[in-house]
Amino acid sequence: MAGIYIHIPFCKQRCYYCDFHFTTSLKNKDAIINAIIFELETRKTEITEEVKTIYFGGGTPTVIASTDIVKILDAVYQNYDVIEEPEITIEANPDDINVEKLKELKKTAINRFSVGIQSFHQKDLEFMNRAHDKNQAEECISLIKDAGWDNITIDLIYGVPNQSEQDWRYNLNRAFELGVPHISAYALTVEDKTPLNKLIKSGKYPNVSDEKALSDFKVLIDETKKHGFIQYEISNFGKENYFSRHNSSYWQGEKYLGVGPSAHSFNGQSRRWNLANNKLYLEGLRSNSYFEAEVLTATDSFNEYLMTGLRTIWGVSLDRVLNDYGEEFYRELLTKVDDMLKNGKLVKKGDVVLISEAARFQTDGITSDLFVVD
Ligand SMILES: C[S@@+](CC[C@H](N)C(=O)[O-])C[C@H]1O[C@@H](n2cnc3c(N)ncnc32)[C@H](O)[C@@H]1O
Ligand code: SF4
Repeated sequence: MAGIYIHIPFCKQRCYYCDFHFTTSLKNKDAIINAIIFELETRKTEITEEVKTIYFGGGTPTVIASTDIVKILDAVYQNYDVIEEPEITIEANPDDINVEKLKELKKTAINRFSVGIQSFHQKDLEFMNRAHDKNQAEECISLIKDAGWDNITIDLIYGVPNQSEQDWRYNLNRAFELGVPHISAYALTVEDKTPLNKLIKSGKYPNVSDEKALSDFKVLIDETKKHGFIQYEISNFGKENYFSRHNSSYWQGEKYLGVGPSAHSFNGQSRRWNLANNKLYLEGLRSNSYFEAEVLTATDSFNEYLMTGLRTIWGVSLDRVLNDYGEEFYRELLTKVDDMLKNGKLVKKGDVVLISEAARFQTDGITSDLFVVD
C-alpha cells in the first residue's frame, strides 16, 4: 500500500513562525496545478501498489478553487490504483471555511479535514499573524460537521509566549467541547528564516521557553488521556479509529509519492525531494531537474526506523532490527537498550521497545543516544 502527498504552495498571509514552502502570490497558480498533474501522470510507474491515502497539504490547499482540487484528484484516480475506501485529507485554514466552500468540497471524495486552529485566543492568533480570528476558529468546526464530515483533526500550538497555562487548558477544552476526534499539537519552534526569529532577535517579541513548552506538553498528555485520546505519536492524539492513516504510514516506513514544489517521496530505498521554489520547480520540470534524491545507507535507514518508531506507540521491534539490519546493528542496539531499560527510559513489550511514559519528554535525546554514527 502507498500514499500520495500533494503540496499546494500558496497561503493568504505569512504566519510569523512558519518555514513550510509557500508563497502569498497566486501568480503561478495555474502553472503549478498543471505541473502537479503532469507529475502525477509522469511518475505513475513509481507506485505500483494500491494507493490507500491521499493528502492535500501546504501551504494552504483551501486557498485554491475546489475545481482545481477536483482536477488533481481526477489525475490521481486516472493514473493510480486507489483502494475502495481511501483516506483523503485536506488541510484547511479557518478563514477559508464557509458554507459555499464546503458545499463544493462535499462534491469531491475528500473525507477528512485537518484544520489549522493553532489557538482559540485572539491575542495568540495575532501574535502568530494568522489570517483568521477567534470567531472563525470557533465556528469552522461546526460548519464542517454540519456539512457532513466527522473525521476532523485540528492543529494547536503550545509553548506560546504570553499564553498562560490556563489559556492552554482553555484551548484543549474547546477542542474537547467541539468534539473533534483527533488533535495534532506542536511546540512553537523558532525556525531560522522566519519573521518570528527576527522579532525575537530584535527584542520585539519574547523568546519561547523550554520550561513552558514542557509544562504545556505535560498538560496536553494528561488532558487528552482523560478525554479518551490515544497519543499514538508524540504530537498526535486520536480517538480509536481516528488515527491519521496517511501519517501513520509514513511512520511505519511505507512508500509514498509526493508531488508539487518541496514535496518529499520515499520508495523504500531512496528519498527524493522536489525543489522548494515555485519558479525553479516549474522550469526544472521541462528537463526533469526539479528534484534531488539520495539513496539511504543502512545506517540512515536504521536511524530513521529508530526515530519514527520511538515517536509512536508501535515502538521499535528488535526482531525487525535483527532481520532487516543484521547482527552488528542488533548487538549495538541491544547493549544500549539494556541500560535504558534499567534506568526506566525504555520499556519492553515482547520484542518491541518503547519510550516509557515517564521519559516521554526526553524522546529526542533518548533516540539520538541510540543512533548509530558512521
Ligand atoms: C503545513 S503546516 C500548515 C497547514 C495549514 N496551512 C495551516 O496553517 O493550518 C501544519 C502545521 O504545522 C504547525 N507548525 C508549522 N510551523 C510551526 C512552528 N514553527 N512551530 C510549531 N508548529 C508549527 C502548525 O500547527 C500548522 O498548522
Ligand atoms: S502555518 Fe499554514 S497558513 Fe501559515 S504560513 Fe504556514 S502553511 Fe501558510
